[in-house]
Amino acid sequence: MRSQRGAYETLVRPVLFSLDPETAHRFTIGLLRQVSNFDLSLRTLGSFRPRSNPKTLFGLNFPNPIGLAAGLDKNGVTIPAWAAIGFGFIEIGTVTAKAQSGNPKPRIFRLPKQQALINRLGFNNDGADAIAERLRRLRRSGRWPAVPVGINIGKSRATPLEQATDDYLYSFRLLRGFADYIALNISSPNTPGLRELQEPQKLSELLHAIGRDPGAAPKPLLVKISPDLSPAELEAVLAVCEENAVAGIIATNTTLDHSSIPPAFDEEGGLSGAPLRQKSTTLVREIVGKSTIPVIASGGIFDAESAQEKFQAGAQLIQLYTGFVYRGPRLIREIMAAL
Ligand SMILES: Cc1cc2nc3c(=O)[nH]c(=O)nc-3n(C[C@H](O)[C@H](O)[C@H](O)COP(=O)(O)O)c2cc1C
Repeated sequence: MRSQRGAYETLVRPVLFSLDPETAHRFTIGLLRQVSNFDLSLRTLGSFRPRSNPKTLFGLNFPNPIGLAAGLDKNGVTIPAWAAIGFGFIEIGTVTAKAQSGNPKPRIFRLPKQQALINRLGFNNDGADAIAERLRRLRRSGRWPAVPVGINIGKSRATPLEQATDDYLYSFRLLRGFADYIALNISSPNTPGLRELQEPQKLSELLHAIGRDPGAAPKPLLVKISPDLSPAELEAVLAVCEENAVAGIIATNTTLDHSSIPPAFDEEGGLSGAPLRQKSTTLVREIVGKSTIPVIASGGIFDAESAQEKFQAGAQLIQLYTGFVYRGPRLIREIMAAL
């Protein structure tokens, strides 16, 4: 049951939704970036923070089980602000080895009637070197948040699929020192060929290389999967993840199934939000039924009920993206109140 609308939905969202989606995103990130630089503004924003509901997973302490999904803060520029707003963990990225500008604009589309977004951004990001430097500065500033920070990495578009492992390894080596966990994104539909990395042999090669890379203290390795996997494909992915001691599965990324979208509003790209809810919950349930690997659920969480659905399906943690765009910080408190 949807509760009352908060200040975000009545005052802030109409302004943001009067702008084109990418401009609204840039504006919001710009504002939160300023907030992230000042202790006083972070403390003010912290008045949003929900009471804690701690959980330990992957050896990490999560003050609450509601995280920011990858893609909202691809470059890790507003990490302190997300924690102040009340997220129990933050996943930045997707970061690629090479800086890249992504696909031509427009490339994010709102579908308010369907409570959905379609995006074909294509991993626009500053690249692993610049982001590692930014994280180093954040560490030094003393504003590193008290919640786990995951770093989601993916393949650079210019790198051929056959060299994907080296491309991931490059980002992994640069960024692991800053991450509480690393998520391997092998499921974005907007980088040609990326989803093929879910094939057992390719996934096995990737996990083997990353899992055995000598270096600093090992970090939990998570794999983010597509909601469009068939049951047989899912089973094969789970088997490879188990063989390689993957710490967690993030289920799911956006879908290429646009059957719920009227053709007049349809766009090429990954669909997220309410139309993805059921599909991603079904996948979470299947994973929990077939494997002991812990699941972080992502897909169509808009209220306490859709969040509960993920936990009932067996998810340990959840992540928000589209629901947060539509409902704002109140969504975190609403879910927490119902836990
Ligand atoms: C505009 C946009 C950009 C995204 N970028 C990324 C990304 O860079 N990496 C990634 O793993 N997932 C990305 N996602 C997927 C989200 O993290 C999330 O898994 C997905 O949208 C499903 O959750 P939701 O229905 O709550 O949005 C993106 C989603 C959207 C809407």
